Amino acid sequence: MAAYAKTTLESDIRKTTQTAEKNAAAQIKTLTHLESKAVDKLILKELSSNVVLINQIGHYIVNSGGKRLRPMLHLLAAKSLGYTGNHHITLAAVIEFIHTATLLHDDVVDESDLRRGQDTANAVWGNAASVLVGDFLYSRSFEMMIRVNNLDVLSLLSHTTTAIAEGEVLQLLNCNNPDTSEQEYLTVISRKTAILFAAATELAAVIAGSSEETRQAMHSYGLHLGTTFQLIDDVLDYRADPEELGKNLGDDLAEGKPTLPLIRAMNMSNSTQSQLIENAIREGNRDAFNDVFQIIKATSAISYTEECAQQEANKAIESLKPVPASEYKDAMIALAESSVSRKY
Ligand code: IPE
Ligand code: IPE
Ligand code: MG
Ligand code: MG
Repeated sequence: MAAYAKTTLESDIRKTTQTAEKNAAAQIKTLTHLESKAVDKLILKELSSNVVLINQIGHYIVNSGGKRLRPMLHLLAAKSLGYTGNHHITLAAVIEFIHTATLLHDDVVDESDLRRGQDTANAVWGNAASVLVGDFLYSRSFEMMIRVNNLDVLSLLSHTTTAIAEGEVLQLLNCNNPDTSEQEYLTVISRKTAILFAAATELAAVIAGSSEETRQAMHSYGLHLGTTFQLIDDVLDYRADPEELGKNLGDDLAEGKPTLPLIRAMNMSNSTQSQLIENAIREGNRDAFNDVFQIIKATSAISYTEECAQQEANKAIESLKPVPASEYKDAMIALAESSVSRKY
């Protein structure tokens, strides 16, 4: 009876927390509602091509229910700096295009067959089509960013896409290598994920003509938030409700990706346990998922990764000091706070 009451209480607390998070997310969305609609309209317009397959795959992935987190961040950041033009609409769409291109490529490289709760484009149309349409999205995003007519914008975004590609290649080099260090892992996630978040927020300072200090603050916020985001993504790959996540669990292990939950578990376990993880990484063995997960649990490697994510979120919030108080800044703070406990 007591155990039952405890379980019920825990479940109630979880539901209340989830409701609070959903309310916060809804509030944040309301702040950029009008602009987000304009961004969606632009995304649909810019997807169009007279090559039928590009339209098909483009619409398939863009309409599949992504969180649109990066464009929302760009809009919030621009509004927090009092920006009143309309380049933020274009750049938000550019950032989502770059993100979508990386997803198309990433699912090919990771051999993933589920994203956003539906079959990946590579599962439906094959690898070649996914890679080529990803290339189309990259190229289209460059056409669009040129319209902003600002060399600083171009320089930042071209630097960003180069870094993302480097991050993905570095990750490939680390695959099946159990000796990857925490530092090497952090370099990968900084490049493959955090740099696009940093671009989303820093670009707001560029178009708003903000001071160097504010630009640096926005960059730092985005970089730390993006790191938080990927650390939690790597936790969710081991411990999530697959339906809520919309992706398969265990994709990272199947690819032999040495993510922080595994690196930490190897560092904290006995030699038999650490050998088991090492083999699973070398072989990219999804079948070892349950055994590996038990070791991750026993070594508190998930809590450790979550603590690292929390520290990154704190740094993100700290970075925003030079940004003037506003409801938009509050939303950016709330986003950093909720990204540690996100479930999808
Ligand atoms: C997925 O990003 C890729 C990572 C960097 C982990 P999101 O979780 O933002 O993907 P969508 O756009 O919401 O599907
Ligand atoms: C993020 O890494 C990939 C990109 C930055 C494109 P993951 O491979 O972990 O992302 P998911 O889990 O497939 O979304
Ligand atoms: Mg992937
Ligand atoms: Mg992942």
